[in-house]
Amino acid sequence: MMNQHKPRLLTGDTPTGRLHLGHWVGSLENRVHMQNDYDCYFIIANVHAFTTRVEKPAEIHQSTMDIAIDYLAAGIDPNRSAIFLQSEIGAIAEMTFFFSMLIPFPRLMRNPTIKDEIRDKGLGDNYSMGFLLYPIGQVADILVFRPDIVPVGEDQVPHIEMTREVARRFNQVYCQVDPHTEDADYIAKGGVFPIVHTKLGRSKRLVGLGGPDASGNLLKMSKSLNNAIFLSDDADTIKKKVMSMYTDPKRLKPTDKGTIENNPLWIFHDTFNPDKAWVKEAKERYRNGTIGDVECKKSLIDALVAFIDPIRRRRLELEKDLHYVQTVLREGTARANEVANTTLLLAKEAMRQRYF
Ligand code: TRP
Repeated sequence: MMNQHKPRLLTGDTPTGRLHLGHWVGSLENRVHMQNDYDCYFIIANVHAFTTRVEKPAEIHQSTMDIAIDYLAAGIDPNRSAIFLQSEIGAIAEMTFFFSMLIPFPRLMRNPTIKDEIRDKGLGDNYSMGFLLYPIGQVADILVFRPDIVPVGEDQVPHIEMTREVARRFNQVYCQVDPHTEDADYIAKGGVFPIVHTKLGRSKRLVGLGGPDASGNLLKMSKSLNNAIFLSDDADTIKKKVMSMYTDPKRLKPTDKGTIENNPLWIFHDTFNPDKAWVKEAKERYRNGTIGDVECKKSLIDALVAFIDPIRRRRLELEKDLHYVQTVLREGTARANEVANTTLLLAKEAMRQRYF
C-alpha cells in the first residue's frame, strides 16, 4: 500500500447508535472524500461509550457493529482506510494515563463540551471519574496516531484544542522544544507529537426535525432528541419523518407567505437537494405563498431517499455478512496498532521510561 507517503488523518465516533444525516454532513462526508489524499484511521470509541452507558454492554456491542456497518455502507473503503476498535489499542490506554498528568484538573472542568454534556445528559453530580477522563482519552486516541488532520463536528472542537495543548506541553517538557515554537514547527524541533489541525464539515451543526427549544433555538439533529433521519431509514420511514417535520409554524395554508430562514424544511433542501434550481424557485414561491408545504416536502423526500437508499441497501448486505465486517475490524485494528505502538515507544523514549 502506498499510504505511507500521504498525510495522516484520524477521526471517529462513539458508538451510541446508528449514524444519521447530522453525522454525514458534520464529518462522514469529508472522511469519504478525503480517503484518496490521506492515510485514514477511523476509531470506533467503544471504551468512551461506557462513560454514559456502563450498564449496557450489549447495546454498546450492537452500536459498535452498527457504526462499522454505517462506515462501510457510506463509502469508507477498508482497502484504503483502517476502521478499528478503541478497546483493542493498548497504547491509547497507556498514553491516557501519562497525558492525564499534563492537564490541570480545573482546566478539564472548563472544557465547554464536558460542561454541555453534564447539563444535556442530566448527569448532575453523578458523572463518574471515567467520564471526566474521556476527553484525555480522546487526546490519546488522536495523538497516538500523530495525525496531520482531525475532521470533526463543531461540538468536538474543545477536545481538539485540548489535544493541541497536551501535545505542546509534552513536546516542551519531554522533548525540550522551546515554548515559543510555532505550532507547525514542533516536529522539526524534535517534538514527538504534531499540533493537529481540524477540519469542520460543510454544515457545522445540522438541525433536527423537531423545531426549536423553549428559547427559540433550533435543536441539533441527535438520536437522543428523537429528531434524526438515519442512514439506515427506509423510504417509508423517511416519508413519515419528513411529512411530520417542523416547518414555518405561522404558515397555516399554502397561500400564506412563508419564512425560509431558520426553517428546517429549507435547511434540509439546501443541504441535501442536488437540484439547486428547483430549490431556488420553490423558495421564492414559498415566500410568496404559491406553493404548498406538501409539495416541498415531497421533493425533499425524493432527494433524501435517493441519497439514503443506496446506503441502506449496502447496509442490508453487510448485515448479512458480519464475518466480513469482523475481518475489516480485525485488519484495521492490526494496522492501527502498528502506528500506535510505534508512537508509544517514541513517547516512552522521550519520557526516559524505556529501560530495556
Ligand atoms: N468524542 C467523539 C464523539 O463523541 C468520538 C471520538 C472519540 C473521536 N475519539 C476521537 C473523534 C478521536 C475524533 C478523534 O463523536
